[in-house]
Amino acid sequence: MPQTIAVLDFGSQLTQVIARRIRECQVYSKIYHYATPAAKLREDNVAGIILSGGPQSVYAKQAPHPDPEIFTLGVPVLGICYGVQLMGYFLSGEVEHSKAREYGLGQLTVKKPGRLFAGLPKTLRVWNSHGDKLTKLPPGFRSIGTTENSPFAAIEDAQRHFYGIQFHPEVFHTERGVDMIRNFLLGVCGVKQEWTTREFVDQAVEKIRAQVGKGRVLLGLSGGVDSSVAAALLHKAIGKQLTCVFVDNGLLRKGERAAVEKLYGDHFQIDLRVEDAGKLFLRRLKGVSEPEQKRKIIGRTFVEVFEKSLKSIGHAEFLGQGTLYPDVIESVSIGGNPASLIKTHHNVGGLPAKMKLKLIEPLRELFKDEVRRVGEALGLPREVVWRQPFPGPGLGVRLMGDITADKLEILRNADAVLQEEMISSGYYYKVWQSFCVFLPVRTVGVFGDERTYDYVIAIRVVESTDAMTADWAKLPHDLIQKISSRITNEVRGVGRVVLDVSSKPPATIEWE
Ligand code: XMP
Repeated sequence: MPQTIAVLDFGSQLTQVIARRIRECQVYSKIYHYATPAAKLREDNVAGIILSGGPQSVYAKQAPHPDPEIFTLGVPVLGICYGVQLMGYFLSGEVEHSKAREYGLGQLTVKKPGRLFAGLPKTLRVWNSHGDKLTKLPPGFRSIGTTENSPFAAIEDAQRHFYGIQFHPEVFHTERGVDMIRNFLLGVCGVKQEWTTREFVDQAVEKIRAQVGKGRVLLGLSGGVDSSVAAALLHKAIGKQLTCVFVDNGLLRKGERAAVEKLYGDHFQIDLRVEDAGKLFLRRLKGVSEPEQKRKIIGRTFVEVFEKSLKSIGHAEFLGQGTLYPDVIESVSIGGNPASLIKTHHNVGGLPAKMKLKLIEPLRELFKDEVRRVGEALGLPREVVWRQPFPGPGLGVRLMGDITADKLEILRNADAVLQEEMISSGYYYKVWQSFCVFLPVRTVGVFGDERTYDYVIAIRVVESTDAMTADWAKLPHDLIQKISSRITNEVRGVGRVVLDVSSKPPATIEWE
């Protein structure tokens, strides 16, 4: 295990950002619940502790407090925002409760660079967001930086290796914030930069081999980033002991199944089983137009087909899953974890126990950006590694109203045109998602000399960082024009193209 920095989570929405910044410095970080006993941190041999920010006042009745023993472990501690107030509270300083929050940019003046600000300029733009503030230094500490509003914006106790900063080094608005974090990691905690993609892959391969032995692993491949990277990693580790199952539910985009067969079957030579279940899904969806009803039918049928497929493969000990770190963090964050807000679909949660399979989750320590880097290192192509999110129920929730094979064909063809243009213009990789929606509305048009009465396609392109909020993307007009005229010219059955200019909230990204 690489040396670990513990991030104690006091409920800040930025806790995960702190953990990611540490890893960007090639140091392994792990998020712990704020009340984790010091003994556990000692047992995990953590090389440093960062106390995250949090929305509470240290004096609040329900305020999250750490185990005070963390300050006696002999391990360096960096308190950020609420974290520095905790240091004031627990180490006999004074913290003033204030109802007004100090929010926004400020200017830090470095009084003594010490180890934390080594190599940094004397003045720096910093981002503040706090209510309470430190008004008296705890014994042993000195101020090393001030802002307009605080003589104790940055403090240190060089002997005990305790540091505290009132502002947020993890956000982009703070100038050289990552350098401050790196200084803490390398200069104060003295850790080595061992957390690299190559190192991860080597260790993961060893771990998988040790765990699996001569056993067999089954993995559901969806074509998405997570399961693709999990497949490539498992394959590298255990080769033919891995069998992948891909369910063609008939709601995929054009060429998707062929691309999966080509990449995993032909290129990687993975033992790939493709379940051709499109007809079954369509039969079950016949006449259904209510979105949640569709989701339920698609989800249930998926589990059924998947389970049957696994059974037909024969005995196996393990079920692989592309679970990521944000899914497993026991988060106390107010505002929650974006992943948990995404409507679930491929709910195979009950399967492993039912089939007596042990779970193997080789990506469970990784953030999404790290997963992509692993994917690149394993030789997955750009269009897989940087693929946009695609909902489990697929085109089923992008085709409004009841689903028929004819309407699906129209949507699939229109969507193929849009994707082609998005990729060739380079916009595919700049936006969060881009797709077509089929509207079961017929409108009048003319084509040549003939009057037409055809369906409508809506174009939905959004920018977002986490799918919780989204803004419609301002694509260049000539690109929109090209997409629109190609769809009406090339896709039979479409007489009109409209552009969705709604943001989330109040609209959602998908239409259903
Ligand atoms: P909404 O439409 O809620 O979507 O703004 C947020 C994100 O979640 C994806 N999404 C889904 N993913 N099954 C999935 O696996 C679903 O049923 C589903 N519905 C929405 C959506 O594409 C977007 O990225």
